[in-house]
Amino acid sequence: MARWIETDGLNALIGLLQWSQLALLHVLDILGLVGTQHGQPAWPWSLRLSGENLLIDLGQARRLAWTIVLLAALVFMLLLAIAWRRRRGWVLAAAVVLMTVIPWPEKGVVLVPAYPTSFSRSETLFSAASIAQGRKRYAEQCVSCHGAHGDGQGPLAPEQRIWPPNLNGPLLWRRGDGDLLWHILHGVRDRHGAATMPAFGAVLDTRDAWALIDFMKAQGAGQTLRSAGFWANPVMLPDMVVRCDGRAPRPLSAWRGQRVRIVAASDTAAPLEDPRLVTVVVRHAGRPLGTPGSQSGCTTDDSQAWEALRLVTGSDSLAGTQLLADRDGWLRAAGAPGKSAWSDDDLLCRSEVRPEASTAAPEIDGLAALIRRMDAEPVRYVKGGFVH
Ligand code: HEC
Repeated sequence: MARWIETDGLNALIGLLQWSQLALLHVLDILGLVGTQHGQPAWPWSLRLSGENLLIDLGQARRLAWTIVLLAALVFMLLLAIAWRRRRGWVLAAAVVLMTVIPWPEKGVVLVPAYPTSFSRSETLFSAASIAQGRKRYAEQCVSCHGAHGDGQGPLAPEQRIWPPNLNGPLLWRRGDGDLLWHILHGVRDRHGAATMPAFGAVLDTRDAWALIDFMKAQGAGQTLRSAGFWANPVMLPDMVVRCDGRAPRPLSAWRGQRVRIVAASDTAAPLEDPRLVTVVVRHAGRPLGTPGSQSGCTTDDSQAWEALRLVTGSDSLAGTQLLADRDGWLRAAGAPGKSAWSDDDLLCRSEVRPEASTAAPEIDGLAALIRRMDAEPVRYVKGGFVH
């Protein structure tokens, strides 16, 4: 039970906070009560409710959950008082008592500064093309401080008032995408209002900024896979245009809801089709396919897709690598070139808490075990920092 509160319960609470604020913004937008910023409805307040701090302070999360439950009860009682005239006095008295026991959480924990774009959603949707665009902009505008690998070791880093952060840690996942967008276009300030990072709104448009966020996440994923050996923060399978069995090209995201296996083409034989997965062979532009058999099924020779996959895996040579994405589009497992068998231990994007080591004999079909685990441990609500 305690574990449920720490994972699914907390996850649901953070999701509820986010969802209810988005719904409110949507309603205000329909009523024409809010303006727009960077093409989307603008959050009109300088504060918002946040899930980030609840992850660190479980006590406050519990208080917030109780507050929500008791406020809902209060609303119910007020409605009851309106409807039930004869007992109105009693119901109102009970409501007053209820109000005194609401355990309000600390303001500083649940309310954080907000920007007009705090609830904006990415326009570029982590496509290989936008990752490529972000890569270009990063090299032009950001590399001098944030470094070639996003680790904050650029040549201008020592001259900054504060050292640029490592973009490969959890930072990009803790912040809302809309907050990142605001920071890139309008700069970052410290508590006293002094600029710590310059604003780029004069040289980048909104799409560039979304593309930069895609690129930084892809690079961050690859760098953590390189250093830690697993994806500490979940990363989507970059979207790419694929062609299946000679039909018209379609974005890979059209297969959301199905598991996808990506195979980076190499000189060795392409893997056989598997009914449990949609298999897509990604070719390096201009490179012939290994075997004639792999002409059937789904393929792409988009060089941006190849580069995006190289980035998320942090690998210098992609040829022969296989990747598995779950039904929600999250990348979950990667197999090095030459890998012939999977096991459920190959899950690279997973919860910290490992299930009890199984004492059963190893499964003959390792892919089945991996798929079972992938389905049983979905990636949870991500924004707000609660991952896996
Ligand atoms: C002149 C140096 C410099 C340049 C150029 C620069 N940054 Fe930064 N960046 C910083 C510093 C310093 C911080 C830390 C600011 C802080 O926490 O107050 C930062 C913070 C960030 C953050 C974290 C913001 C947050 O929410 O905490 C992101 C994301 C970021 N930069 C992205 C970019 C991108 C994208 C570019 C290129 C368009 C860029 N930066 C260019 C210096 C720079």
